[in-house]
Amino acid sequence: MSSGPRVPLIKTPPPGPESRRWLAREAAVFPRGFVDQAERTFVAARTEGSLIEDVDGNRYIDFGSGWGTNNVGNCNPEVVEAVNATMRQMGVVCWTSAANNIQRMQLADKLLPVCPARTDKLYLFTTGTEAVEAALRIMRRASHRPFVLSFYGQYHGLSYGAMAAGPLQSDLREDVAPLVNGFVYAPYPYSYRTPLRSRSGGAGQATLDYIEEIILTYEVPASQIAGVLVEPVVGEAGVWVPPDDFLPGLREMCDRHGWYLCIDEVQSGFGRCGRMWAFEHWGVEPDLLVIGKGLSGGSMPIAAVAGRADILDGAEAFLAGTYAGHPAACAAGMKTIEILYRDKIFEHASALGEYGLRRLVEMREKYPILGEVRGKGLWLAAELVKDRDSRQKDFGAARDVNRHCLRNGLYYIHDNIAWFVRIQPPLNIERSLFEQGMDILEDAIRAASDHTVKH
Ligand SMILES: Cc1ncc(COP(=O)(O)O)c(C=O)c1O
Repeated sequence: MSSGPRVPLIKTPPPGPESRRWLAREAAVFPRGFVDQAERTFVAARTEGSLIEDVDGNRYIDFGSGWGTNNVGNCNPEVVEAVNATMRQMGVVCWTSAANNIQRMQLADKLLPVCPARTDKLYLFTTGTEAVEAALRIMRRASHRPFVLSFYGQYHGLSYGAMAAGPLQSDLREDVAPLVNGFVYAPYPYSYRTPLRSRSGGAGQATLDYIEEIILTYEVPASQIAGVLVEPVVGEAGVWVPPDDFLPGLREMCDRHGWYLCIDEVQSGFGRCGRMWAFEHWGVEPDLLVIGKGLSGGSMPIAAVAGRADILDGAEAFLAGTYAGHPAACAAGMKTIEILYRDKIFEHASALGEYGLRRLVEMREKYPILGEVRGKGLWLAAELVKDRDSRQKDFGAARDVNRHCLRNGLYYIHDNIAWFVRIQPPLNIERSLFEQGMDILEDAIRAASDHTVKH
């Protein structure tokens, strides 16, 4: 892919003939799922940096970064080399009572120093879902309390426990009903849409009041709650950035009631929000930290739960997995951490994020189909609404914008439950490529806006 033009290049409008052929195979051999197969637009053949090339030779700017994994760029050559070198040295040496592998400790030695001060031990896993499940069990085992408090709109994975912990959308949870119990929920302080109002503050305080005045008064006493599971910025539901008082208030509440604060940074971490961890923006520290996705720079699956030693040791939990702490994945993690700091990627991502948010704010002034625009670091979103007064979600416009972008060489994560545009490119994307992507996005929003005005 390195030869030829690096800009987006659409040779044949997607889906091109080869993509169509493969998509037909997909429909034949993979079950229909929640994502409509007819909506798929291309089949990727290769990726590099911040570009994706499909099987028809179309090149797209990547504003999706492998669902938030390729934070240091697709197929980062140094990460790939770290993986290859380790694979030449050893395959899976499972962590058991009899054996271990050196890379697990080496990764811990790199990762713990970049975690908050109070996290001094960790478990390694394979996926974010597994790590969330582990965190839930750790909180319950260490506290001997049955309940975990979570927030509407969060997503933590697709296993039974993670689905119960993450109420992203009710109809997606039909098949896991009745839910694993032991959860209580509060509305996330999603200022643009929350129906909660506080007598003494904004949306953050309203959620904190709801916990005290509703949950603790009518559902479960504070003494039954083990901990709180929170996304510092909610990802899947559309990059909800909480008000500034929310996380500090939650930290204070956890301290007051003796609850563990478990922050899920699977997607918001590893630089996505412009710092290593999103919670750094609000000056709070978790007791448990869930890590995934970006840890291996988009190469090998690996995830972790880092936390206070007294909690992790105290839980004495039976937690492991065949591929957990795979040596090559650990090597990828070490290299990714090195690159993030060495190449000043947080600074780069923050600068691009500010530029991107400015562009979105300007677009909002021009195009009434945009409701709220928001973001933290290089994680941005723009809501599409039928009109600004009712704030009614416009799924059709969101689909049109996405289609327009794809036809013009810009890819971002989109599915049928999204009424928003979500921007999360690799954090080291070149500025010119990012600007080009934002131009394509603006063209698409303008076209959707013109279409809305005409109809
Ligand atoms: C906040 C959060 N937690 C957990 C998960 C689950 O991670 P995985 O898909 O690696 O199991 C995700 C995935 O998107 C996520 O965004």
